[in-house]
Amino acid sequence: MREGQTHTKQEKEQVTQAKEQAVNTKEALTELGKINYQKHCAVCHREDGKGMPPAFPGLLGSKISVGPIDNHIEIVLNGKKGTAMQGFAGQLTDREVAAVVTYERNTWENDDKKKYGESAGGVVTPGQVKKVRQ
Ligand code: HEC
Repeated sequence: MREGQTHTKQEKEQVTQAKEQAVNTKEALTELGKINYQKHCAVCHREDGKGMPPAFPGLLGSKISVGPIDNHIEIVLNGKKGTAMQGFAGQLTDREVAAVVTYERNTWENDDKKKYGESAGGVVTPGQVKKVRQ
């Protein structure tokens, strides 16, 4: 009986995962990310990703935007103390954070691996955000 239940649970997880993948394509996330970027981020970082330096840095080719994904998720969730960069953990869902990060990593040629190296670009799943959030 117990084994049967475990199977069912596993199957359910597989279905959930498959559904997650189906709705979280790069296109869908980028589209949702753009909306959220314009709503929450463009006021400082600007639509063209060039920001308003020195107060608000650009995200075009910025260290975190082309660096390891977890650092990127982390700053969007928690912000950076002592700066105007607030955390968005309370305002955005895991999927919205995944979307906005995916958008930033694949816009303004931030996904150019030749220029920025292997860490550039990438698609961020809500599951990844959930892990960093904990
Ligand atoms: C009120 C202005 C403001 C808003 C709104 C804002 N940011 Fe920022 N952001 C900043 C500032 C200032 C920094 C620089 C922090 C520092 O000194 O390291 C920053 C830094 C960043 C960085 C790191 C850049 C790097 O490579 O060092 C990322 C990524 C980022 N913001 C993403 C976002 C996202 C995503 C949103 C919207 C959900 C957002 N920001 C909204 C002001 C803002």
